[in-house]
Amino acid sequence: MEASDTFIDCLAGQLPFDIGTEEFVRDPYRFYEEVRRSSGPVHRADSGAVVVLGHAEAKAVLGDPRFGHGAQTAQDRTGYGVPARTFLLTDPPGHTRQRERVRRAFTAREILVLRREVDERAARLVGEAARSGTTDVVADVARPLSAGVVADLIGVPEDLRPRFTQAAELLVRGMDPPGLIDPGTRERIARARVRLAGDIGAALRRPSGSGILRTLAQDADGRPARAETVATCAQLVAAGYETTVGLIANGTYALLRHPDQLAWLAAAGHSEQACAVAVEELLRFDPPIQLAPRCALSDAEIAGTSVPRGTLVLVLLGAANRDPRVFPDPHRLRLDRQPRHLAFGLGGHYCLGAALARLEATAVLRHLLPRRPRRTGHPVSYSPARVARSVQSLRVRLDPDGRGPDAARLAGMTSPA
Ligand code: HEM
Repeated sequence: MEASDTFIDCLAGQLPFDIGTEEFVRDPYRFYEEVRRSSGPVHRADSGAVVVLGHAEAKAVLGDPRFGHGAQTAQDRTGYGVPARTFLLTDPPGHTRQRERVRRAFTAREILVLRREVDERAARLVGEAARSGTTDVVADVARPLSAGVVADLIGVPEDLRPRFTQAAELLVRGMDPPGLIDPGTRERIARARVRLAGDIGAALRRPSGSGILRTLAQDADGRPARAETVATCAQLVAAGYETTVGLIANGTYALLRHPDQLAWLAAAGHSEQACAVAVEELLRFDPPIQLAPRCALSDAEIAGTSVPRGTLVLVLLGAANRDPRVFPDPHRLRLDRQPRHLAFGLGGHYCLGAALARLEATAVLRHLLPRRPRRTGHPVSYSPARVARSVQSLRVRLDPDGRGPDAARLAGMTSPA
């Protein structure tokens, strides 16, 4: 099987449930449970694809180099629609070299530098949102925060930022099977990709570059490798923008449905530490990326299921995160779990932006929750994307002054460490 060409094209028909339905978008976890009940942690679909729902089994696949993408170099155009020369869907050695170039921008020192900026940006956005009393957490906080951080990280010049954000919002839909995207949107995604590549290319030619663009442009061996840099930056946008929006949006929505857990955070004074602990459970409970695809590069076995070379293996991260063998009462949100979730994947493709995403979500919770967000009557809607999962509109009422709830009312509640 030509893995990178077919992963996404055939995805819709490979899963044991119909991911095209509204019901799936609203609650994929119900569908995962049905398959888990009937097949256990590993399911072989009629098509021959292997669907992994168990936590240990997902870890085994993601950490095993026998499961990869079937692309040895980063030159192939991928079935995900991300531009060629990107490394998310390639195997070593091409993957290792490119990942290392980007990893340099995600060092602990770089993240530390971004930390204050992220916090200030989150405080400002929440403050502005609170002034009007009612706000959409997604449109007014999560999107501008995530877009601004990714743009800073890449080094997108100010004048190109509005176009950049527009393109970023479309790119995430490109992760879905084309059959699930209407022709008009497909056309807009294609145009957005070309525009984004053009903008990144233009920014790269400017002498006053910053962020990853500057680092990558000064490639160690002196060759700018422009096409590769453009594709890598476009991938960072696709991988980092909507996912972080999803974490903030899905996480806030989950908290609003669990007042006891909101109270747990309030009892901890919405401290940075407690919010960071909460973010881990929010990542487990409703992860923004639901699926990681792999291809068996040689004959293998997953928990007793034989997997011949060339088999499509679909790791359902959202299902693994609710494996009852690892997470007791898995459908319950319990912020003090400190779970070993798989929301950022594992192994050689482990998310490079995990620390950044955690930082952003923690900052939003810290500034948003003391203003006591309450749901308005507006219905909550999800993005039509399937591989990515994100609440796309979440209107709340906020206290304008940001005073936390009366601590006396919370007396008797257990406070996080
Ligand atoms: C909550 C937010 C995020 C989630 C849930 C998430 C999730 C993931 C997952 C599951 C993977 C692995 C996919 C696989 O193994 O097939 C991944 C890879 C990646 N992520 Fe993230 N991500 C997030 C935020 C970010 C951010 C903010 C950035 C950068 C700005 C980023 C950059 C990347 C990159 C570059 C890869 C590819 C790594 C590789 O192939 O070696 N991500 N992410």
